[in-house]
Amino acid sequence: MRVTICFGGSILVPGTPDLACIRDIVKTVRELRSQNHEVLIVVGGGELARSYISAAQELGIPGIDQDQIGIAATRLNAQLLIAALGEIAEPAPVTVFEKAVRAIFRNKVPVMGGTTPGQTTDAVAAMLAQVSKSEILVFFTNVDGVYTADPKVDPKAKKLDRLTPDELAKLVGSAEYKPGMKSVMDPVAVKLIQRSNIKTLILGRHEITRLPEILNGAKHTGTVIARVSKW
Ligand code: UTP
Repeated sequence: MRVTICFGGSILVPGTPDLACIRDIVKTVRELRSQNHEVLIVVGGGELARSYISAAQELGIPGIDQDQIGIAATRLNAQLLIAALGEIAEPAPVTVFEKAVRAIFRNKVPVMGGTTPGQTTDAVAAMLAQVSKSEILVFFTNVDGVYTADPKVDPKAKKLDRLTPDELAKLVGSAEYKPGMKSVMDPVAVKLIQRSNIKTLILGRHEITRLPEILNGAKHTGTVIARVSKW
C-alpha cells in the first residue's frame, strides 16, 4: 500500500526535538517498508516554527515572510528526520511533489516540509497524497483525533470515530488562515481532502508504532475521515 504520513511538528518538536518520537518514526517506517508499503513523509514545524514566527511577528515582519520562516523551520525538522532515517530516505528535504513521487520509484522515502506560503504542512500532506495516488493519508498529531470542540478548552468535547470530508469541512468552518495558526486541520488541507476523497486517518502520537498493524486492519483510537461507511 502507498501511504502518505504527516508527522505534526507539535509531536516531533514539542519544545526541543522529541528523540523518542523520532526513534519511533524510524522504527515504524522501517517496519512499513519491510511489509512492502511505500512511504511518503511530511513533517511540521512545531515549536521551532512557532517561536520563529512569533519573533517575526514582534519585529513587524509581513505575513508572507513569517510563512517563509515557518517553511524553513519545517525543512530543518525534515532534515533531522532524514538524517535519523539514514540511507532509506531521500538525502535532502523534497520541495517539489513530482520529485517526491520519483523518489518512491527509486525505493527511497521522500521527506517534505512546507512548500508554499498561506497554508500549513497539513495541506502539503493532502496534496502529496493526491499527487502520489496514495491509498491512505495519515496525520499524527498531539490531539488524538477530531473532537466536537477543542478538548483543551472545552471539557465536554467528544472525540468522533468517523466523519465524512464534508462533515470535517463543517467542523473546521471558515477558520481564517494565519501564520502559525492552530486548528484541527488547515482549511486548505480540508478542501483538498474533500476534493480528492482520499481515506484519511487522524491518530495520536501513541499510535505511531502501531501504524503497520492499523494499516492491516487493527483497531485504533483516532478518527477516520471517509465517505464510505465500510472503511
Ligand atoms: P506547520 O505545518 O508546522 O503548522 O507549519 P502547524 O499546523 O502549526 O503544525 P504543527 O502544530 O507544528 O504540527 C508552520 C508554519 O509554517 C508556515 C505557516 O506559517 C505555518 O503556520 N508554512 C508551512 C507555510 O507557509 N507553508 C507551508 O507549506 C507549510
